[in-house]
Formats: sequence, structure tokens, C-alpha cells
Amino acid sequence: MVTGAIFADLGNDVIGVDIDRSRVDSLNAGDCPIHEPRLPELLKRNLKEGRLTFATSIPEAVSTSEIIFICVGTPPAEDGGTDLSQVETAATGIAHAVNGYKIIVNKSTVPVGTGDFVRDVIEKNGVAAKDFDVVCNPEFLREGQAVRDTLQPDRIVIGSSSETAAKTVELLYQALGAPCIITDTQSAELIKYASNAFLATKITFINAVANLCEQTQADIREVVKGVGADSRIGPAFLGAGLGYGGSCFPKDVDALLHASRRLGAEMPILEAVRAENDSRVPRFIQRIIGRLGTKNRLPLEGTTIGVLGLSFKPDTDDMREAKSIEICHALRETGARLRAYDPIATTNARRIIGDDGIEYCQNPYEAAKGASGIVIVTEWREFIQLNLNRLKSEMVEPIIFDGRNVYSSEQVTDAGFEYFSIGKIPSKPKP
Ligand code: UGA
Repeated sequence: MVTGAIFADLGNDVIGVDIDRSRVDSLNAGDCPIHEPRLPELLKRNLKEGRLTFATSIPEAVSTSEIIFICVGTPPAEDGGTDLSQVETAATGIAHAVNGYKIIVNKSTVPVGTGDFVRDVIEKNGVAAKDFDVVCNPEFLREGQAVRDTLQPDRIVIGSSSETAAKTVELLYQALGAPCIITDTQSAELIKYASNAFLATKITFINAVANLCEQTQADIREVVKGVGADSRIGPAFLGAGLGYGGSCFPKDVDALLHASRRLGAEMPILEAVRAENDSRVPRFIQRIIGRLGTKNRLPLEGTTIGVLGLSFKPDTDDMREAKSIEICHALRETGARLRAYDPIATTNARRIIGDDGIEYCQNPYEAAKGASGIVIVTEWREFIQLNLNRLKSEMVEPIIFDGRNVYSSEQVTDAGFEYFSIGKIPSKPKP
């Protein structure tokens, strides 16, 4: 949707195809089915100006297009590899509709060798090699900042065995003025996985350093300032917290691990990344129990806890691999009653987390009512400047367990809170 809307905005005619008729209908009516800043305006403008339409028919879209992007899901397969069935279905549908030379671009995140697989599927379905080229053009946008990342990318990666096809795709992005890396297909495929796995490793490394800080007088935020100032390291993706979630990093780290085993070039570093990331929430829960729990079988029985932020990151309603799911389950298992608030993701969260032992609230102050602790799971902007006095007045015990380091210790301890954050020993409230 984001890439299509931006290509349309740059003046191209774009047809977005989906098998879900109701989604196509609502998109054509200008309704954006996900929460993504700036996307609704882009969709509306380009629909109105007739450059963007949505359809369920592959033949109609393929026959009128020169370049076809495959942007389907590539979920984990049962054997730990990547399920390419949606890519295969899309490629088959495209093959049946080819009516002249086409460039078929794989934008989905796929294992090394998928370009050849797509080529095989298309040829097996009767298309002559001269009538198409396959290009790999991975996507690097982040949810919540997808429009910005697409308009101002750090780089565009284009992999193909056909120089002409690669150049045609490069032209499509020319107006963005971003550096373009033209390479072979397999390198392009690997660039995507290696980038995501590296970022996941960077986050995990700093989380491990944060564990160390919690055993000392060091403060992870100060450590990050110093480490990130080295231009060889950089400050981005050094935010210590509850670990990475979302629909990409967990899946892509696993997929790269699987591929490395399959290809006999194992990457034990990624095993360690995975294990450390999996330990983030249990560790956080232990800190909560350590402060608020009893020795009973259900250590938090009778305790109310407010949970702020449910989506996997701010500015999205996406709940895939959101840390809130694991946190809410774990807290309920210890007997806690939960009061949860998210600015956008509550409907999706309720579907996944359920209603048992949890009340969904309209604002953060309602979530704090009768609570002995507030747990911050997602760093939504609106949490930064909460009225801390009002929040405290709603609570039984003013304690904040900040899983995303939204606050500074001074800010919350001055307001009378006890404060647990990531990568720093807990701070007592100022009298
Ligand atoms: C990620 C990549 O950042 C994109 O470049 C890539 O295109 C995308 O995956 C994809 O493969 O489609 P996304 O998952 O949308 O984007 O969001 P991120 O901002 O990368 O955050 C991922 C997770 O890492 C979140 O759970 C976030 O809370 C966590 N994170 C991020 C940290 O814990 N610390 C940080 O410093 C940064």
C-alpha cells in the first residue's frame, strides 16, 4: 500500500491487487485498513486523481502494467524455513496473465534463491524467458514511519541478472534522489535479511549491556550516549528495552538462522540474539514480582497493574509479536488484575489478549486507577508528558516499571514515584 501510493504520487499509474475483496472495496472507497501516519492522505489524493486503483483481478493489473511488484507475506514455515506459497501463487497468477515483456519485482522479504524460484514458476507456467525479467528490490520501511522511510530511504537496493530491468526499476525511484545499489539478485536478497538481523543484534547487544548496568551504578542511557557517538557505531537502534518484536525482526532472524544451517554456514551469534531477546520479558516480570510480589503460589494475586501501550511499537496498531501479549499473559498467570490502555491498538489487542482479568481503558489515568504499579510497554509519545501528579493520585502505590525508558529518573522520582527502568538500578521517590 505504502509503496504503491508513493509510486502513484510520483506520477505513475498503479493498480494494487489483493485477494481480499472487502479490503479492495474499502481501499477504493478511500478507507485505510491500518494505522499508518500520512498514508490515508496519500491514498485519498491518488485515488481521487485516478492514478491509484485497487482490484482483485491479477490479469487486469498485469496486462496493463510494465512492472509488477510481488509484495505478499512470507511467514515462517513449519520446518523453521520460509513459507513461499503466497509468492508462488502470485507468480503463477502473473505468469497466466503475461501479454508481452514484463519486469517482475520481488519486494517481499525472501530467502536467498527465491529470485530463481520465481523465475522457474513463471517459466513452468508457459512464459518464455525473453518475455520477463526478475528483480529483487527489498523494502526497508519501518511501520509507523513507513511513508517517511519510503520517501527518504537510506538506499534503494536492486538485484537482477538483467541490467536493463535493474535500470528500469532504478528510474522508478529516481525522483527520490536516494543512493541506488544495483547488484545481483542473491546479494540483494541477503542484504535484506542481513540488515534486519544486524539491527536485531544491535538492539540485543545493548539490552545485554543494560543487564550489566542493572548490577552496577552505570546508567544505560549514559552508556548509549557515549557508545553511539562513535561514528562507526551510531546512536540508532541502541534503545534498550523489552526486546524487539513486530512482524519482521523475530521472523527474519529465525529465517536467517534456518538458512545458515541449511547452507552449512551456521550463525551461532543469531542463536544468542534470539535467546537474549526471549529472556527480556521474563526478566522484566521478575523485577515486577521482586518488588510487588508475595511468597504465595500466585505472587501478584489481588494486585492491580496498569499497562500502558499494547502495539508492538508506537504509531501503529500492529500487534504482531507485541511484547504486551507476553507481558499481559505472564502478569495474569501470577494473579495480577490488569488495566490496559493503548491510543490506537486496543481493538486488535483485545482480539489477541482477550478480556480475562484485563480491563481496557480510555486513557492512561483510568488505567492507573487502584494500581500498585504502572508498566510501560510501548513508548507512545503521549506517555512522555503525562500529568504524573494526576497519575499518582489514581494509584494505590506509585511505582512505574518503565520497559522503554520513556522517563528520566529525576522526572518521576521528583513526582513521588518509585522508578524501575531498563539498564539502571531502581530509584526511590524523592520525599
Ligand atoms: C523493521 C526494520 O527497521 C525496517 O527497516 C524493515 O523494513 C522492516 O523491519 C521490515 O523488514 O519490513 P519494523 O519492524 O517496522 O521495521 O520496526 P522497527 O522500528 O525496526 O522496530 C522493530 C522492533 O525493535 C520493535 O519491537 C522495537 O520496539 C524494537 N526496537 C527498535 C528496540 O527495542 N530498540 C531500538 O532501539 C529500536
